[in-house]
Amino acid sequence: MLILTCGKEKVFDQDRLVKKGAIVFQTHCSSCHGEWKKGDGPLSTTLNEQPANLNHFEGTSSDRIIRIVVNGVPDSTMKGYKDILTKDEISAVVAYLIKTN
Ligand code: HEC
Repeated sequence: MLILTCGKEKVFDQDRLVKKGAIVFQTHCSSCHGEWKKGDGPLSTTLNEQPANLNHFEGTSSDRIIRIVVNGVPDSTMKGYKDILTKDEISAVVAYLIKTN
């Protein structure tokens, strides 16, 4: 019984993390990456580089995505979010990106 309950909470937590991540994404990322993560946000046409399409992560580990969100991509407008988002918000947005990949 106890184990069952724990299992359910885990699934619930994961769903909650992904939902929170969606909000973080729309707030902080969609201006460049686009509402549907296609790299076509309103700011995308003003940048030197095309924001990445975040719908295709084949061969990309979650560690790498976390590193990019934390530290940014060097020499690009993709800046690091370590001073902007909390650790929880970063986990949430990465969970969202992976879940909806
Ligand atoms: C100011 C525009 C801008 C904002 C805001 C922005 N990005 Fe980016 N992002 C970029 C650009 C441009 C690139 C491509 C950089 C390159 O490779 O040259 C990129 C690349 C990435 C990549 C790497 C994709 C890959 O596979 O190489 C990830 C992951 C990413 N962004 C996630 C995010 C997340 C999550 C947020 C919000 C917390 C965010 N970005 C906000 C512009 C932006």
